Amino acid sequence: MCKPSTIAIDGPAASGKSTLGYYLAQRLAYLYLDTGALYRAVTWAALQQGLDISDEESITRLAEDVQIDVLPPAVADGRQYTVALGGEDITWEIRSPEVDRAVSPVSTYPGVREALTQQMRRIAAPGRVVMVGRDIGTVVLPDADIKIYVVASAEERAHRRLLDRTEQGCAPSFEQMLHEIRRRDEIDSSRVAAPLRPAAESILFDTTALTKEQMFDAVEQLVNSFACHASAEARSSGGGRSD
Ligand code: DC
Repeated sequence: MCKPSTIAIDGPAASGKSTLGYYLAQRLAYLYLDTGALYRAVTWAALQQGLDISDEESITRLAEDVQIDVLPPAVADGRQYTVALGGEDITWEIRSPEVDRAVSPVSTYPGVREALTQQMRRIAAPGRVVMVGRDIGTVVLPDADIKIYVVASAEERAHRRLLDRTEQGCAPSFEQMLHEIRRRDEIDSSRVAAPLRPAAESILFDTTALTKEQMFDAVEQLVNSFACHASAEARSSGGGRSD
């Protein structure tokens, strides 16, 4: 059975990449790492310490020093994993609107990216990993076995985030959500360090009109067929990996 060992999934906010990545990791019994959680944890720590979000130097130092752990889910409350910072469970705190607003600017700082990218590569080194983010296929794991770039319309993504927010007990308007999504797209894709963009060899996956079940079926087919195709090609050129 040919299976990719490292799977990179990138895409804009609320495109469905985390849902897809988590699903694939469960199906394949691979490690799942949502790298946005690391940027969010640093941002949360900065807000807790009362740092000015525009203070690049202090926030970079914080990213270099802070100990973030992404662990298997410790509580059955709908979480995909537990995020701990210095031993404190901050899994839900990093999803707050305050962190949402501040995380994109924090993720533009090259020193922050460098520190977190090192951590991501260390985690991925043993393989059998599904890693989700913005620059996994382009920067973090440029040699990933398969790269998927997930997209959905801004309106559909705003709608999805609105549902999340309503479940969390706060209800911004659709217009506010759409504005927020577009603002984050703009920051994520226009930053100088590792901007959001598809890797040259990535497969584009549009989830706009798909239900979760349709997304799961489609991504599974994609991974199965692509992996076998890629392995067969590699074998025929004498460079196959056994799995
Ligand atoms: O996927 P998310 O919304 O949890 O990501 C939070 C922020 O982190 C987002 O603004 C982009 C940034 N990010 C990044 O720049 N690179 C990654 N690999 C993952 C996330």
